[in-house]
Amino acid sequence: MAKVFIGSDHAGYSLKAYLIPLISQAGYEVVDLGPESEQSCDYPVFANKVCEAVLAEKGLGLLICGTGVGMSMAANKVAGIRAALCTNEYMARMTRAHNDANVLCMGERVTGPGVAEAIALAFLGTEFEGGRHQRRIDLFS
Ligand code: RB5
Repeated sequence: MAKVFIGSDHAGYSLKAYLIPLISQAGYEVVDLGPESEQSCDYPVFANKVCEAVLAEKGLGLLICGTGVGMSMAANKVAGIRAALCTNEYMARMTRAHNDANVLCMGERVTGPGVAEAIALAFLGTEFEGGRHQRRIDLFS
């Protein structure tokens, strides 16, 4: 099972805290890269931390901010990261299967906790299908 690195900003802190035990109970090793409180902070700092860990340890990442948009923009600036902002389970499953996404982004102000849990578990539980999908990923510039 992939090691899961998780991070947020202040606007995603509560959802991060909610998801960590649930992902652990599902059998994944979860590493919380912060923040440690809801004090205002800058989401790119935590996007960078999570992305570096994902690349170094060949794991999967989960980033949460208010909308998920800022985290996905910041994460996709990191070479080797394919971050996907997902709002439903289908997107989560397909972005692993077809895009080999290695970071999932969600917005605490957009997605409720129950749906977020289902999205996270669908993302973590789906394997990349390879084949023609690898060819398409290789065309990314
Ligand atoms: C914080 O207010 C908010 O801007 C941030 O969490 C995120 O939604 C940015 O994309």
